[in-house]
Amino acid sequence: MYKELIDRLEKEQTLDFEEYLLLIEHRDECSQYLKEKACEVRNNVYGRRVFIRGLIEFSNYCKNNCYYCGIRAENKNAERYRLTADEIISCADDGYKLGFRTFVLQGGEDPHFTDDIFCRVINEIKQNHPDCAITLSLGERSYDSYKRLREAGADRYLLRHETCNKSHYKKLHPEQMSYSNRLRCINDLKSLGYQLGIGFMVGSPYQTDEDLANEMLFLKKINPHMVGIGPFIPHKDTPFKDFESGNAELTTFLLALIRLTLPRVLLPATTALGTIDPLGREKGINAGANVLMPNLSPVGVRKKYLLYDGKICTGEEAAQCIACLKNRIEKTGCRIVTDRGDYSEEI
Ligand code: 5AD
Ligand code: FES
Repeated sequence: MYKELIDRLEKEQTLDFEEYLLLIEHRDECSQYLKEKACEVRNNVYGRRVFIRGLIEFSNYCKNNCYYCGIRAENKNAERYRLTADEIISCADDGYKLGFRTFVLQGGEDPHFTDDIFCRVINEIKQNHPDCAITLSLGERSYDSYKRLREAGADRYLLRHETCNKSHYKKLHPEQMSYSNRLRCINDLKSLGYQLGIGFMVGSPYQTDEDLANEMLFLKKINPHMVGIGPFIPHKDTPFKDFESGNAELTTFLLALIRLTLPRVLLPATTALGTIDPLGREKGINAGANVLMPNLSPVGVRKKYLLYDGKICTGEEAAQCIACLKNRIEKTGCRIVTDRGDYSEEI
């Protein structure tokens, strides 16, 4: 019966709530078949290529206080840092030499970084490397800010919605943050023509299987170009320190479900997945993921950008991570490629 559902999902690229829920609840009985299908679909769209994105974590200052996150403002134990504009630009230069053609600028919501600063950084990276794509992951900003950054040359924007359930959102965030503003941002980004990435944590506190089934419907509705999901991992200096982690098995199951729901989506096997399971990223690729985001931040600051405990790759140079990833990915039968890896409209 699950097989038939999965076959129908492959054909129609959607199921209804009850059907998604059934698969999620009975994942043990159908995950292998689902993952095989997901890899087939990915291979048909993108081939066995895995795209790499160079992640530049430019600041761990953050004005927000999300209950799950290690760099929340109230965490007095976090050692704060921010890179200068020139340091960010030089990270991209180093990354370019290593073969990267997409740079992801990610940071906490740090008021120091005005539009003027980002516009200068974007301009300069684009000028130095016109063949590269720039992805921003700067959190919630105004429509005008998103517009200026887009006009400066930013191509893509990642803003996870974290959960599509409004009351669940309230359990993960303090009152100052609202689900409706999150959605406003996502709609603004879409209307400005960014390639849009959204996503959620798997196994976050209070999340239910019903929530996950609804996530599939939400993704289908928004139809983003990228979806970032990874297991929730507690951080010792946060209100959620005593909650259990999400797990690799559920995360990879959902990756496969997403691949069949949105066949062309760019889908990373995240660092959090590699942290919760030593073979997590490989398992993600074997479930239909096709993106990896190795860290390009200077090694000196890596250990400070800790959203959760135990994060991998905080001691390695970018070149080491690439060599390591090449090795690991080869074993999955896929191969790392260095092109921009834009969203494919063709099937
Ligand atoms: N565990 C896993 N993922 C986390 N993120 C933040 N804190 C954690 C955590 N403790 C994720 C959020 C955010 C992204 C940058 O990192 O989903 O959007
Ligand atoms: Fe960073 Fe393996 S990917 S060390």
